[in-house]
Amino acid sequence: MLLAYDDHGPGPVVVLLHGFPLNRSLWEYQVGSIGSRYRLILPDLRGHGESAAPEGTYTMDAMADDVLELLDVLQLREPVVLGGLSMGGYVALSLIERFPERFRGLILMSTRAEADSPEARHAREDLVDEIEGTQDVRPVVDAMLPRLLSPTTRVQRPEVVARVRSMMEKTAPRGVIGALRGMASRPDRTGVLAGINVPTLLLFGRDDPITPPEVAQKFAAAIPRAQPEVIDGAGHLAPIERPDDANRAILAFLAELA
Ligand code: MLT
Repeated sequence: MLLAYDDHGPGPVVVLLHGFPLNRSLWEYQVGSIGSRYRLILPDLRGHGESAAPEGTYTMDAMADDVLELLDVLQLREPVVLGGLSMGGYVALSLIERFPERFRGLILMSTRAEADSPEARHAREDLVDEIEGTQDVRPVVDAMLPRLLSPTTRVQRPEVVARVRSMMEKTAPRGVIGALRGMASRPDRTGVLAGINVPTLLLFGRDDPITPPEVAQKFAAAIPRAQPEVIDGAGHLAPIERPDDANRAILAFLAELA
């Protein structure tokens, strides 16, 4: 499926995949700083933002295939740098497992390699039932929002809280349902980590209850060329909560790759 996307800037290609249920405007603060030196490709994953929201389960592999199709349409045959945040990270792990030759660096942000626990799967099924009944995504927004942003962001940056809420509320019910089902059925990819042979930046928020810094330590122990970076004052969405610190870490990593 051809995805909606932005294509910013000159230079080596960096593809960034947003989390659930967000869209490519998550990267607004990366466009000026990183996009002035690198070519940023920012898709809306299937069911999100301006991309189509078909019926059905959006497996991480199907979402990954959409991203690969976009790279092919853009004729990006040389290996690129791939970053993914949370659900975008699940999609990135699918890509690096199945098409390692297409990538020369990886940025895993606030994500994990394990499959859902049975409890997490049930919680997603309950949300799907609720949204199917009401066609209203606000229960997901209300359940997720308090856990996405750090206490500092919630108190000091009300504009970020409002932006994240608005991004989430714009996601179509069918997109939210498809992604919830896809995440619930995603496979465990911990076995993939030892085989990742490209430099990998691990960007996590110090105050993230969803994927706390210990998750970065687990990745760092498993991925041979991993560089953990924990951002103080950030929750699950460091690139929008602490853009200067996140950009500094990403730019330093990209400069080393060059
Ligand atoms: C995300 O931010 O993409 C979600 O927290 C992922 C998830 O629900 O597992």
